[in-house]
Amino acid sequence: MFRQCPLREPPADRRLVGMSASLLPRDRTAARESLERSAGRLREVFPEWPAGHPTARLLQEYLAGRAAGELDLSGRFPQPETAAPLLREAAVTLVLDDSDGALTLVSAGISSSPHVVRCDSAAEAAAVAAAVARCEGSGGSVAALSAVEVVRGSGQGEDRNPFSEVCRCVRGVLSEEGPAAGGFRKGHAEDAPEFAAQSGLRLRVIVSAPKQVRALGDLLHLVGAIMAGQEGRPHSDVELVLAGREKHMTKAFNGELEAWFSRVDVSPGLAKSRLLIATGWRGASGAVGSSPGLPTPVVRDGISAFGACYGGSRVDAGARLLLEALRAHAAEGPAGSADDAGGSPLRVLDLGCGNGWLLREVRVLFPGARLAGVDDSWAAAASARMTLDVNGSGRGGEGTHEGSAFASGDGGPVLRHADGTAALPWGEGFEAGAFDLVTLNPPFHEGTTVTTDTAHALIDSAHALLRPGGLLVLVQNSHLRYRSHLASSFAHVEQWARDRRFTVLAAWKQ
Ligand SMILES: C[S@@+](CC[C@H](N)C(=O)[O-])C[C@H]1O[C@@H](n2cnc3c(N)ncnc32)[C@H](O)[C@@H]1O
Repeated sequence: MFRQCPLREPPADRRLVGMSASLLPRDRTAARESLERSAGRLREVFPEWPAGHPTARLLQEYLAGRAAGELDLSGRFPQPETAAPLLREAAVTLVLDDSDGALTLVSAGISSSPHVVRCDSAAEAAAVAAAVARCEGSGGSVAALSAVEVVRGSGQGEDRNPFSEVCRCVRGVLSEEGPAAGGFRKGHAEDAPEFAAQSGLRLRVIVSAPKQVRALGDLLHLVGAIMAGQEGRPHSDVELVLAGREKHMTKAFNGELEAWFSRVDVSPGLAKSRLLIATGWRGASGAVGSSPGLPTPVVRDGISAFGACYGGSRVDAGARLLLEALRAHAAEGPAGSADDAGGSPLRVLDLGCGNGWLLREVRVLFPGARLAGVDDSWAAAASARMTLDVNGSGRGGEGTHEGSAFASGDGGPVLRHADGTAALPWGEGFEAGAFDLVTLNPPFHEGTTVTTDTAHALIDSAHALLRPGGLLVLVQNSHLRYRSHLASSFAHVEQWARDRRFTVLAAWKQ
């Protein structure tokens, strides 16, 4: 799967006989003691720690082992004749797509650099912010963390690019050139290993392995945009640590990293997790076709898609069947015999709008309808905005607790980045009873785990968002059993369409 670094045997006195659940030497070394001390602190936030967090635990061992000089760059025991290069302190650590705060808390407990966290998922950003707040609010017992900022607002740049806010934020910290920027700064936490007095790093990036390699491409472009103009300044180096479950990482990740970095190391696997460590920043010059600009979406047949957008710029087959069914019933009245909307424009929401294709087609089907889309993925909400060609200069651009909106000032579609399973309201216009028609093509996966919980929660949100008499049109994989969940809250449920893979159900609210 991976291009492996040759595996080296640890020195005999450090060999982990019959124990492979740790990167670190078995004896009580500085790194191991640091892990033991921080375990109590982490358990205040994650009571089961380290159980349930194999990837964060691997990252913790790696960073602590390198800070103490017990592991080399690849996370292995150093050769007897060479000292391991110590972990360099960074001016800024950027954490991308942490799912629950564990990667952030691990890194911010070891490195004293300010941390900026950016998650594509609104739900994950909320979880990280909650974990950090919990840590900070724990009366100092879990504190001793570096400053952490979770980027939640929308891009304020002219193009409302979903990466502009995080780029602005990191560059702002870099321009401040805090005490860590020049290199060595002693670990802030009493138990943090001391860093070596050596030249510092401009940026350390910790990335949770994305589902698609094209999403990694966007994240590398983001790093390129952050670093543009930093070349030639002291400590202009970047180190990137990609952490993930082995089954979700492919060799294509190495290739993507090698376009931007001169060296990529692969850590030993631990509890089915692994790290890819990229060093020797080559910048945009090394990456084919790349420029130091922010990531841009791929556009195909008028459908825009940033790398992390579900399905890319393809049309989803389930969404296609849903549209056909909606079209067939549209003649029956507004939204297929949903109660009359009282003469005012039909208000339609696509819950989990993806790249915006379905909304674009719904606009053709119901001209004059007021359209809205919500997606938990920042990449998806921004892609839908571009697919629908929404002018980003209108209202709703402010980041809110729930997420951020992309809107036109002329009553055109409103696209919101928000967790559709969170309690309502999600901002102006996204209140209980605000819609006549909701379309829903729910995710089958939560991250990389197959689950129906999210779909059930989205059905509940759809019910709350509909006015009395409003209609939900849902498409599901035919083997799934959402009908009984629908029947528990909706007044009437019927099947509108079915093919080999998908079933479309219509459900009316009382
Ligand atoms: C199967 S895709 C459907 C995309 C689009 N509506 C279509 O039919 O082509 C599911 C979408 O739901 C989004 N999603 C997943 N969890 C969500 C949540 N909690 N809140 C809002 N959207 C969510 C995903 O990001 C993804 O874009």
